[in-house]
Amino acid sequence: MVAIAFYSITGQTERFIEKLQLPAHQIDDANPKYDMGEHYILIVPAYQDFMMDSVVDFLTYIDNKKNIIGIIGCGNRNFNDLFAQTAKKIAATLKVPILYLLEFSGTSEDVKNVRKIVQDLSAGESTKTVQKPKELRGNISFLSDFRD
Ligand SMILES: Cc1cc2nc3c(=O)[nH]c(=O)nc-3n(C[C@H](O)[C@H](O)[C@H](O)COP(=O)(O)O)c2cc1C
Repeated sequence: MVAIAFYSITGQTERFIEKLQLPAHQIDDANPKYDMGEHYILIVPAYQDFMMDSVVDFLTYIDNKKNIIGIIGCGNRNFNDLFAQTAKKIAATLKVPILYLLEFSGTSEDVKNVRKIVQDLSAGESTKTVQKPKELRGNISFLSDFRD
C-alpha cells in the first residue's frame, strides 16, 4: 500500500485518517523532520502559510519532496477561492497532482473515494475511476493563482 503522510492542527484531518483505516505518518510540530523513505501521498488541511511551517520542514527534509506522488487537500468551501489553498500551493510548487479535495473530516463518500485512490495507486493504476470534486474538473486555471 502506498504510504501516507498527513498534518492536522485541530484534529479534522486526523479524524479523516482514522476513518480511512490506513497506516499514516502524522507530521509532528515537535519533530517535523521525518524521512518517508518511499513514495507517499500527502494529506493536508488548509491554513495561512505561516501556520504550515511544520509541513514545509517535513517536505524539505531529505527526499520527501522527491518521494511525494500526490496531494489530498482538506479545507472548508466557505473559504471560496482559498478552499484547500495549502494543497493547491504545494501541488503548484512541487508539480505534483492534487488527487482529491474534501472538507473537514470527510464524508463516507470521501472515505470510499480516497481509499480507492490509494488502492489504485498502490496497484500502479491511474486514479481516473474516482470522479474528482468540481474544483478539479475541467480546466485547472485556479493553479495559476498560486504560481510564482
Ligand atoms: C485559522 C483558520 C484558517 C483556515 N483557513 C482555511 C483556508 O484558507 N482554506 C480552507 O479551505 N480552509 C481553511 N480553514 C479550515 C480548515 O482547513 C479545515 O477546518 C480543516 O478541516 C482543518 O483541518 P485540521 O483540523 O486537521 O487542522 C481554516 C481554519 C482555521 C481555523
